[in-house]
Amino acid sequence: MQTATVNFDKFNQLQDDACHERIRAARARLGKKAVLLCHHYQRADVYQYADITGDSLKLSRLASQTDAEYIVFCGVHFMAEVADIMSKPHQIAILPDLAAGCSMADMANLAKVERCWRELNSVLNADEQVTPVTYINSAADLKAFCGERGGIVCTSSNAGTIAKWAFERREKILFFPDQHLGRWTGAQMGIPLDEMMVWDPDLELGGLTPEQIRKAKLLLWKGHCSVHQMFQPAHIQKFRNQHPNGLVIAHPECSYEVCRQSDYVGSTEHIVKTIKDAAPNTHWLVGTELNLVNRLAEEVRHEGKVVQFMAPTVCMCSTMQRIDPQHLAWTLENLADGHVVNQIRVPAHEAPLAKLALERMLAVS
Ligand code: 13P
Ligand code: SF4
Repeated sequence: MQTATVNFDKFNQLQDDACHERIRAARARLGKKAVLLCHHYQRADVYQYADITGDSLKLSRLASQTDAEYIVFCGVHFMAEVADIMSKPHQIAILPDLAAGCSMADMANLAKVERCWRELNSVLNADEQVTPVTYINSAADLKAFCGERGGIVCTSSNAGTIAKWAFERREKILFFPDQHLGRWTGAQMGIPLDEMMVWDPDLELGGLTPEQIRKAKLLLWKGHCSVHQMFQPAHIQKFRNQHPNGLVIAHPECSYEVCRQSDYVGSTEHIVKTIKDAAPNTHWLVGTELNLVNRLAEEVRHEGKVVQFMAPTVCMCSTMQRIDPQHLAWTLENLADGHVVNQIRVPAHEAPLAKLALERMLAVS
């Protein structure tokens, strides 16, 4: 019998134990109708229910390969948008808490990027000279902006390959919203730092002179991740002093200096794989989100590996953290009762162009 949609307030009051019971019961009722995709940063009490886990690239590929009617995305808003764009027409993408955004993605919006493009066109012929490349951590309308202008999407695991693709087409790249991923990628390709200019969207001409714009190979949007900016070179130096044989691995959203001083740099999936594949009894310092680091430390402890978080303070992705057992129980119970809540639906005028930019990425990487 179909009941009315249950309001979230009733779930907000529930103790965790009650939530877990209701999550298990709703999943049993849903069976294969629902698939749970979890990003590596997801909190442990939600991550335990994942059918599929991964970094942004892996999850965006797998979202299009599942057949479940409901794709419940335990991640952040842009990830659920990608699932919606890449899914089949009968599938529905759901984000258990609509407030789970990405603060970095919010640092670029369409109006500011369009203004940047107009300003670039006042100095050079952007349409012929610049490939727009958006990090997957961005809203769907920015992916559509790139799709429309011969541009492309990248993730932290394929940024180098994508930048190469972009440079094969045009001489410059406008990279948004993460300046750090852009800078690290450019540096790996041998681009000098003074040919990578930061574009400040709040200043006229991005705060640059026409000469600087003409000289730049890479224009880096002034955006960053608030979690990864907490990691500092001093944390690495302290670790190396204490553990001369220790190894350091960082996510490319960390600053250039942190990446430069690390032994390895890569996506969340790369970090997990590198440490799992490492020799027993190795000691690691990891510059990425705390939930991932804590989980990994537990998983490899029996091999004598020590996994240490890079910063002395707690750095969690506070928005992803919002997907808690209460929201998951509320979402799944409503779905089991036949009510779709928190559907993420990219508007029809954006989805095809955003898909084009995503498909270009998937074809290249
Ligand atoms: P990954 O693609 O490496 O999982 O990164 C996503 C992200 O948001 C990191 O902050
Ligand atoms: Fe966005 Fe940073 Fe959270 Fe990644 S860790 S989802 S970049 S806010």
